[in-house]
Amino acid sequence: MKSRAISKWIPWVGLIAVTLGSHAGAWGEEGHQIVGTIAMTRLTPQTRAAIIELLGNDDLAKAGLWADQIRGDSKYDWAKPLHYVNAPRNENIIVLDRDCAKGECVIGAITRFLAVATDSTKPIEERREALKFAIHFIGDLHQPLHAGYADDMGGNRIQVIAFGDKKTNLHALWDSVLIYHKSQGDWRGLAKALETDMPAKEVAQWEGNLDPLAWGNESRAITRVIYNDLPANAKVGEAYYESNFPTVARRLAAGGVRLAAALNKAFAAQNAVKNDARAVSPVRPSTPIQVDKPATKVTPIPTGVPVVVPVVVPAPVTVPVP
Ligand code: ADE
Ligand code: ZN
Ligand code: ZN
Repeated sequence: MKSRAISKWIPWVGLIAVTLGSHAGAWGEEGHQIVGTIAMTRLTPQTRAAIIELLGNDDLAKAGLWADQIRGDSKYDWAKPLHYVNAPRNENIIVLDRDCAKGECVIGAITRFLAVATDSTKPIEERREALKFAIHFIGDLHQPLHAGYADDMGGNRIQVIAFGDKKTNLHALWDSVLIYHKSQGDWRGLAKALETDMPAKEVAQWEGNLDPLAWGNESRAITRVIYNDLPANAKVGEAYYESNFPTVARRLAAGGVRLAAALNKAFAAQNAVKNDARAVSPVRPSTPIQVDKPATKVTPIPTGVPVVVPVVVPAPVTVPVP
């Protein structure tokens, strides 16, 4: 009886262990909400209007969470490797051909999803999802360990004890534990403080560099320092927090500023295309003119002649989940 009761629980214990052990988010929820909140204050009116058209609101804090919320849905398994970019341990610089083949990493994903989000020829639902992915992935790429090493899954496999008794891992420490230690749950307050303390010179530098590969290389450089500075006993406390939180703060702020700047740039380009189209197309009459349609001439296909119909087959995404 007793052993049956225990064995009933074993699958649950296993499931919980797997859930906790797997990649826990990106920046955690607080991080993405902070990045989105900082970005929201920096959108141009046109960008804000375009976002409201797609999402129904301009709540980038909420929109940035969606890509993590769908992680359990197997329909989106293809998106799992798009949250990060890994490079070999002995390499300081991300090489796209090697580390992001076919654009299948967070860097390629940002470029692709921004293009889809602003492409008015695409179906609205596809654009809406693309926008939510782009918002999330720009945040992710600013978390240093999202440009990490494949062999330990960006630090997910490195056990760490934080603040005396909290069992966590290096990745989660940088995704959320350090942020929560500062915010104590008040992420809105922390976002406000980061906005207020933003040094204008750094903001100008961040806005002046909107190449996702450069963002990844910045993260990569910080990742190296994170590994060098991790104590051998993997115990991190107040001293670690004090010396590393400024980096976390800077990456959150840079992520927010760049999210806004990248969206402003992408949607401004979209508007330019729209305006160009208006300038060259003749003025549309207010009432449609009835034109007698010529009868469509159907050319019969002679039997026996093979008809080649081009079929677009999406490239298979083979993603080994480390
Ligand atoms: N899984 C494998 N590598 C990862 C990384 N760098 N960040 C997050 N999850 C990962
Ligand atoms: Zn993510
Ligand atoms: Zn993460």
